[in-house]
Amino acid sequence: MKNVIITGVSGGIGKAVAMRLLAGGSSVIGMDRVFDDEILEAARRFPEQLFLREADLMDAASLPGLVADLAAEYGPVGGFVHCAGFDKMAPLHLTKTEDIENLWRLHALAPMVMIGAISKKKNHEDGTAIVLISSQSAHEGAMGHTAYAAAKGAIEGYLAPAAAELMEKGIRINEVCFGPVRTPMASGWMEKLTEDGLRKLTESYPLGIGEPEDAAGLICFLLSKEARWINGQIITADGGHAVRKV
Ligand SMILES: NC(=O)c1ccc[n+]([C@@H]2O[C@H](COP(=O)([O-])OP(=O)(O)OC[C@H]3O[C@@H](n4cnc5c(N)ncnc54)[C@H](O)[C@@H]3O)[C@@H](O)[C@H]2O)c1
Repeated sequence: MKNVIITGVSGGIGKAVAMRLLAGGSSVIGMDRVFDDEILEAARRFPEQLFLREADLMDAASLPGLVADLAAEYGPVGGFVHCAGFDKMAPLHLTKTEDIENLWRLHALAPMVMIGAISKKKNHEDGTAIVLISSQSAHEGAMGHTAYAAAKGAIEGYLAPAAAELMEKGIRINEVCFGPVRTPMASGWMEKLTEDGLRKLTESYPLGIGEPEDAAGLICFLLSKEARWINGQIITADGGHAVRKV
């Protein structure tokens, strides 16, 4: 694939997706607020395939211009995976308005605006595909995750009408809904659990806590031509959590 935009490319899932695509010969436009040593090293290793663009995605008004700049610099966008994100846990009565807004901005507003800009071009190359990442926390009682889960719910509601419109332009869009994946984001809240809490959490995932590679495998499949018949779907990968014996 050509010019797959990956936001949050320095993060756990974003980096794993980027590395898998690069190994398969795709070119990647990696975006993040800061680039870590691993991704900078990858950019040196794949100078013709990995292009890095520093950007803070919280300013939605700047995003259409940013997408247009990327297309002008590297050529048409051939894919988009939105991996930038953060979580902010708090009980309802302590949840700050500012945090609700910021979670909405990054998890929902930013990808919606970027996809709008990507879809501006009338005819897309065969195989253009988009993957957004939702979370199991939007589907069960994940204590303290209300604002994060609500933003994930927004992109789930967005999916079907977006898929209908994008399909007319030759673009597929799907979403993945993940249980916990071992990344810096998940460590942030898992490390706060008591020993007993962590044991219970781990036991509720019979196939284990996900690794970034597990997440990247599904995302790259949905981006690929192998998935040409799949559109507008939310695919769950949760380590067997939903079907565990209780
Ligand atoms: N890890 C999990 O357990 C899990 C589960 C379900 C869904 N997800 C979702 O997967 C996606 C990737 O998460 P991850 O676990 O790889 O997280 P991560 O914390 O490892 O990576 C997130 C990346 O986003 C970047 N980022 C944060 N704010 C940004 C901003 N304003 N502009 C640009 N970049 C910004 C960070 O710098 C970081 O590199 C997120 O949407 C997350 O909600 C993660």
